[in-house]
Amino acid sequence: MKIDGNPYRSVWVDPADAWSVRIIDQTRLPWALEFLRLTTPREVAQAIRSMQVRGAPLIGAAAAYGMALAAREDAATPALEAAADMLLATRPTAVNLRWALHRMMNRLRMARAANRVEIAYREAGAIADEDVAQNASIGRHGAALIEDISRQGTNRPINILTHCNAGWLATVDWGTALAPIYMAHDAGIAVHVWVDETRPRNQGALLTAYELGKHGVPHTVIVDNAGGHLMQHRQVDLCIVGADRVTRNGDAANKIGTYLKALAAYDNNIPFWVAVPSSTIDWTTADGIANIPIEERAATEVTTVTGRAMDGSVDTVRVAPSDSPAANPAFDVTPARLLTGLITERGCGAASEAGLRGLFPDLAA
Ligand code: MRU
Repeated sequence: MKIDGNPYRSVWVDPADAWSVRIIDQTRLPWALEFLRLTTPREVAQAIRSMQVRGAPLIGAAAAYGMALAAREDAATPALEAAADMLLATRPTAVNLRWALHRMMNRLRMARAANRVEIAYREAGAIADEDVAQNASIGRHGAALIEDISRQGTNRPINILTHCNAGWLATVDWGTALAPIYMAHDAGIAVHVWVDETRPRNQGALLTAYELGKHGVPHTVIVDNAGGHLMQHRQVDLCIVGADRVTRNGDAANKIGTYLKALAAYDNNIPFWVAVPSSTIDWTTADGIANIPIEERAATEVTTVTGRAMDGSVDTVRVAPSDSPAANPAFDVTPARLLTGLITERGCGAASEAGLRGLFPDLAA
């Protein structure tokens, strides 16, 4: 995607040295566009933990490049396994991390130690390229849904509500939930996006609004609690969100607050779609509520807010009494029964085991 006319991916190998890994520091957006250079698997792990890189597919791709950096340091199997364990421990909910690390380790175990560095970069590059292609395909399938609604002749922009950031910053490119919106907009369909601010870290207000603004997509930031009201007043035509893990029965873990939006959409008979590449499907797990590990993050993310002061400086201020404890579950699980369906790279399908098997008979096996 483009920022001020320049094309970017969210992770790439520096062409100047052909080995160091570059990322956009997402903790600095939208106030500053800064690039970091990662040179060790520990730096990659730290970037994932601190959410300088974030979003399920991007975490997976970044970790894959982390394995390439690990292979440069020591390509012996025990060292690679230790690096994979360290990267896996960074964030528990997004299954793309486990998926990418398993894929890298399977590929590297088959190779002779002398070839592993080259193979690791090639495999990480393949993971990144496939993510871009899959998200583009999600975009095409999702844009068709938006076009269907626009054909119903509403004579006004199609209003789409999204939560958190499932745009190109959360993937290698295009995004999952935002890809259909970009493609519909590019095709000339009038769209308008309600952007949930997404407390506590405000990925919606900071990152989704930034992305949409840079692409010229009309949007409005709302507080997380406004969605139900807008739905009751028919100001939302459909919801599209991403996910960090979809279990094989179609339950979807996504940023905390997604479940409440799905409940409101269900109550108001508004389509609620979850856009995911196949790397986000956890075929080993059926019941999402019981089995998906939910990351619990620092209480300070709840008791403080970071923003730009009127003098231009970026500051963090408290929004709760300093002696009040806070809880910070970072994700919730929306049961499959509340979802209209899943938008995947192979098309749209029911959020159910039958729906997923129909789309991915090869992977389900
Ligand atoms: O904690 P984050 O910012 O990594 O959470 C991201 C989300 O919840 C996204 O919606 C999800 O990863 C899908 S990204 C295409």
